[in-house]
Amino acid sequence: MAQLWGGRFTGSINELAWNFNASIGFDQRFLEVDVRGSKAHATMLAKQGIITEAEKDDIIKGLDSIFSDVKDGKLVITDKYEDIHSFLEANLIERIGDAGKKVHTGRSRNDQVALDMRLYARDEVEQMAELLKNLLRTISGIMKDNLDTYMPGFTHLQKAQPVTLAHHFGAYYEMFKRDLLRMKDIYTRMNYCPLGAGALAGTTYPLDRVYTATLLDFYGPTLNSMDSVSDRDYLIEYLSALSTIMMHLSRLSEEIIIWNSNEYRFVEIDDAYSTGSSIMPQKKNPDIAELVRGKTGRVYGDLMSLLTTMKGIPLAYNKDMQEDKEAAFDAMDTVKHCVTLYTDMLKTLKFNKENMEKSASKGFTNATDAADYLVNKGMPFRDAHSVIGQLVLYCIDKECAIDDLRLSELKRFSELFEEDIYDAISLKTCVEKRLTIGAPSKEAMMRVITENEAFLMGFKLM
Ligand code: ARG
Repeated sequence: MAQLWGGRFTGSINELAWNFNASIGFDQRFLEVDVRGSKAHATMLAKQGIITEAEKDDIIKGLDSIFSDVKDGKLVITDKYEDIHSFLEANLIERIGDAGKKVHTGRSRNDQVALDMRLYARDEVEQMAELLKNLLRTISGIMKDNLDTYMPGFTHLQKAQPVTLAHHFGAYYEMFKRDLLRMKDIYTRMNYCPLGAGALAGTTYPLDRVYTATLLDFYGPTLNSMDSVSDRDYLIEYLSALSTIMMHLSRLSEEIIIWNSNEYRFVEIDDAYSTGSSIMPQKKNPDIAELVRGKTGRVYGDLMSLLTTMKGIPLAYNKDMQEDKEAAFDAMDTVKHCVTLYTDMLKTLKFNKENMEKSASKGFTNATDAADYLVNKGMPFRDAHSVIGQLVLYCIDKECAIDDLRLSELKRFSELFEEDIYDAISLKTCVEKRLTIGAPSKEAMMRVITENEAFLMGFKLM
């Protein structure tokens, strides 16, 4: 056991308590950010004359050498150390001697770990924005390829009105676009540097916190030292945004699972993204989609765990906060995998356009348009609704579609029906006449796609 705080103690810590307390098992992924933060801190200390230039140079060289030795496997991070901060400081002292003992001047592990988490989460937000951009580009490609792929639109999972596959995916585009915008929003609020807050009350050294913040590409320093060490709001915001991404992916998964079912056959998932059954040779299961749906609960759990950890914590730092890490890392890893895998799966997804169109032409998806036809011929909408309702009942009995009826049959329901009814309720007309912003016609969709492409081109996280 190599702890940083032996001086005040006479007895030694119980082994179970040591292991219980230690975080090195999971915070070693802070190695890179901890080094980055310590280098900036040392640079600032030297600029302020708190350590010498030579000491700063030794510290930076020492930290770099530790980092590369760990990366090369020459130095192993072991549970002899309590956490990654202790590991680095102990090794630094071992390598450069007394200068190493000065790296922690004007700093506490409380602001150190607060900085590490912020740097780590900021990198994650940047990566997630890129992954979401890829996903959006993929969806946009599917949309452009399927502007005239007619399919039923559903409400209550019952066929409602015809749409296109482009329009259906357009809904997901909007969801993931909001997810991307949430990354920007979170970034804007989180990008402030907590280093220099000390344990909770700042320090008496003349630290230049603005300089440290600049060195680490933050907008500036955080403004209250107690809040700086005990704030994990940005992490909660990020996990909440990750949960929303998962919710969207889970809804899409649900659709893909239904569309892939033997009954629907709207899509075929590529072999690369499906699995078989150990007993039923005919099976090809949509496991990736199911697992993404399943992992959504896990990410929600991570968010709940963090919210619950934070809710009872008085100011400022309390050890409970060490529990932020495993939940946050789990959510970050899980969602990155899911978005990456999903983008690839969508790229190889095959759409059975014929089945979609066949399905759209059954189930009276043009009933609203038939009613609108009568309205255009002068009938009040409520009356038209009733006439078409009776017509649908008649068709159900005859097991046919409205368009299958002869004009003479239609006229029995209303004299207003003319030969032009067939064109008015064709699948194509039903879709292409829907021209308002956000509607499924090709013309309306193309406008939206152009607007969204411009949005994505111009998107900047910071
Ligand atoms: N491992 C600790 C954490 O993750 C680092 C901060 C320790 N600070 C302290 N006062 N014990 O929260």
